[in-house]
Amino acid sequence: MILRVLGSAAGGGSPQWNCGCPVCTAVRSRAGLARTQSSIAVSADRRRWFLINASPDIRAQIEAFPGLHPHGDRTTPLEAVLLTDAELDHTLGLLLLREARALLLYATPAVHETLSAGSGILRTLERYCPVDWRTVTPGARLALADGLSCRAFDVPTTKRARFGPGADHGRVVGYRLTDERSGGTLVYLPAVQALTAALRAEIEGCTCLLIDGTCWRDDELVRLGLAGKTSREMGHLPIDGPDGSLAQLPSLGVERTIFVHLNNTNPVLLEHTPERRTVEERGMEVAMDGLEVQV
Ligand code: MLT
Ligand code: MN
Ligand code: ZN
Repeated sequence: MILRVLGSAAGGGSPQWNCGCPVCTAVRSRAGLARTQSSIAVSADRRRWFLINASPDIRAQIEAFPGLHPHGDRTTPLEAVLLTDAELDHTLGLLLLREARALLLYATPAVHETLSAGSGILRTLERYCPVDWRTVTPGARLALADGLSCRAFDVPTTKRARFGPGADHGRVVGYRLTDERSGGTLVYLPAVQALTAALRAEIEGCTCLLIDGTCWRDDELVRLGLAGKTSREMGHLPIDGPDGSLAQLPSLGVERTIFVHLNNTNPVLLEHTPERRTVEERGMEVAMDGLEVQV
């Protein structure tokens, strides 16, 4: 399969419109790459593409990627959208697809309910175009197309649901995608609070892992005076620290590990920082928009 990173930044993008932190300032002065919000596209053969999450930057992301451009009429290679959760940075883009003749949407019942009765994104979208909702059940295999299949798995989080109580089961999922022909496996995990034993088992031995790299330090936003919460409290395992992802991932036997969903404050966004060097010295990577990987 081919995976294309459409957007590698967390909610807000990099730089974020109202942020003057050192990294945002550096990116504005062209000392680092700008990044759009979190989303990837996956295809078995470059003919049909599946989006995982629909970011508020989706229009620019599609324009930047010829693989997703329409054919002569209004048919497009965009086959469906899969959702990992109902966060705005992963779902606002659905509204920007409202010109579609119909949309195929894969989401858990919990995410579907939040989008309908909570944020209302789905209720609004359905006034513009028919949405064919396919239920995602953690643990169940889903055949997508052309030998590409996926299985969602639950990602436990204590982050409070912003819209109503929301079921805990299926509120956040990750996806393990398999290309039946090449045998390649991709795990997409843009939001993870802790690498539990169950999650480690899902990741173990995959060909390529795209994982939550929101913050470098747990107290990154607190130190910068930008928020009162730690990274973990916001549902994101930090990269650094004794229990951070950098310390835990090497034992999982993954061929290629790439950090995604990078917050605009994270120093790994800039090429010449010690934090970036540390990631690369461990044989891991920091995603950028447009990155393609053959899995
Ligand atoms: C998150 O990943 O923590 C959220 O998407 C932040 C946000 O609301 O943008
Ligand atoms: Mn997010
Ligand atoms: Zn910033």
